[in-house]
Amino acid sequence: MKYDVTVIGAGPGGYVAAIRAAQLGFKVAIIEKDSLGGTCLNVGCIPSKALLDSSEHYHNAKERFETHGIQVTGLKIDMPQMIKRKQEVVNQTVGGIGFLMKKNKIDVFEGLGSFVDAHTIKVTKADGSSETIETDKTIIATGSSANTPAAFNYDGNRVISSTEALEITKVPKRMVIIGGGVIGLELGSVYARLGTEVEVVEFLDRIIPAMDKDCSKELMRAMKKLGVKFHLKHKVVSVEAMKTKVKIGVEKRDSDVSFSLDADYCLIAIGRIPHTDNLGLENIGIMTDERGRIPVDAHLQTNVPGIYAIGDVIKGMMLAHKAEEEGAFVAEVIAGEKPHIDYNLIPGVVYTWPEVAAVGQTEEQLKEAGVPYKAGKFPFKALGRARASMDIQGMVKVLAHKDTDEILGVHMVGPRTADMIAEAVAVMEFRGSAEDVARMSHAHPTYTEAMKEAAMAATADRAIHV
Ligand code: NAI
Repeated sequence: MKYDVTVIGAGPGGYVAAIRAAQLGFKVAIIEKDSLGGTCLNVGCIPSKALLDSSEHYHNAKERFETHGIQVTGLKIDMPQMIKRKQEVVNQTVGGIGFLMKKNKIDVFEGLGSFVDAHTIKVTKADGSSETIETDKTIIATGSSANTPAAFNYDGNRVISSTEALEITKVPKRMVIIGGGVIGLELGSVYARLGTEVEVVEFLDRIIPAMDKDCSKELMRAMKKLGVKFHLKHKVVSVEAMKTKVKIGVEKRDSDVSFSLDADYCLIAIGRIPHTDNLGLENIGIMTDERGRIPVDAHLQTNVPGIYAIGDVIKGMMLAHKAEEEGAFVAEVIAGEKPHIDYNLIPGVVYTWPEVAAVGQTEEQLKEAGVPYKAGKFPFKALGRARASMDIQGMVKVLAHKDTDEILGVHMVGPRTADMIAEAVAVMEFRGSAEDVARMSHAHPTYTEAMKEAAMAATADRAIHV
C-alpha cells in the first residue's frame, strides 16, 4: 500500500497531524502500537483529570459541604468504581478518535512502526506478523515515556509511574512521590484528597520549578493545607521495594542529613523521556541528541528530507496541546502552506485545586533578560464570585512591558484558571496591552474579573476591588 503521508504514533500530535493531512487531500496512514490517543488519552491527561474530578467531589463532600449547609452521612470511597468510571471516560474518548480516523478516511495500522528506509515502514503486530507500507512523507509522533532511572528500581507494582498510579483500586495509606512537577502534584492531589498521606521529595528549592515563583508558593500553600508534606532540596538516593511496602532513602542536598521514608507506593515523577526505541532511526540516518530527542529544523523536518517529527519526541515542552499545534503545522508545511507556531504562547496548566495556569514570560525570565516590566496582581479572595464558591485561594498576575504596556506574561493560581488562561493567550496573540484587558467588559460575577483587575493593577495601579 502506498501513502502520501504516514504518521507513526496516534497521540494528540499524531492523530491531529493525520486528520489535518487528510483534510488537505492527502492519502494518510497512521500506525499505533498500543491504543489510539496515546499517553494523553489512555494513561495521561484524560484519566488523570477523571480521577482529579472524582477525588475533588469526595474532598468537597467531606470538607466543604457542611459549610454550604449540606449534611452528608455515610460518605465512602468506592475506589474500584472510581477507576471503572475513569476507564469508561478513556474508552469513550479513544473510541471518538477511532471514529475520527474513519470519518477522515485514514487507514489505521495496529503495530510497531519502524523505518526500513526513508520511504518504507514496517508494521510489526503484537503476534509477530508484519507488513510494510510505502510512503512519500512520514511524521514521527511517538511521544515519551516516564523516566524511571535504574537506581529507583521501578517495578510497576510498588515503585510506580503515573501509568500505574491511575490503576490503584485501594486507597493507599502512604505514598512518597519523587518529583514536585506537574505529574507529582496532580496525582499527589488525587491521593491526598482520598486520604493518603502524601510526601513529595523535590530536588530543587521549589515545586513546579519551571513556572513563576509566586505560583510555586501559592500552590505549595494550598497543597500543604491538603496535608501534603514536602521535602524540598532533597534527593532520593535509594528505593527498595518489598511485596507490599517500599522504603525510600532520602538525602538533604549539600548536607549530611539523611533519613528514610516508608510507604505503600513510591511514585516516580521526575520527567519523561522521548520514545524512539525500535523505530529503526539508524536505518535512515537520524541521530538523537543528548536527551534522546530527534533534532528538527524550523519546519519540524529531520535531517532526512520528507521525514518530520513532532511532540514529546522533539525539543520543547512535553504538552499535548503543543504536539497538536505541531501536528497541524507539519501537515500544512507538507501541503506547501506557511503555518506558524508561537511557542511563547503555549500555555502551561497544572490541574491541582486551585489550578495553576500560565502563558508567556515569568518575572524571573523578564528580570534575567533585562526587560523593563510592571506587575499587577489581584487575589481571588477579593472577588465576589470566588467567595460565593469558597474558592478564595490564589491570584492572577499580569506582567506588562513598562513602556509599551504590552502583556508579556500572565500567571494564575485559582479556581478554573486552566480555562481562564485562554483569554490571556488570545490577548497576547494579538499583542494586546494590559490597558486593552482593563477596558474589556468581564461578566460579573465571574472568576475572569480577576484577570481584568490584575490588568488594571498592571497598567496604572488602578484595580478597583483591592
Ligand atoms: P516535570 O518535569 O514536570 O517535573 C519533574 C520534577 O522532578 C521537577 O520539579 C524536578 O526538579 C524533579 N526531579 C527531577 N529529578 C529528581 C530527583 N532525582 N529527585 C527529586 N526530584 C527530582 O515532570 P513530570 O511531572 O514527571 O511530568 C512529565 C511531563 O509531562 C512534563 O513535561 C509535563 O509538562 C507533562 N505533563 C503535563 C501535564 C499538564 O499539562 N497538566 C500533566 C502531566 C504531565
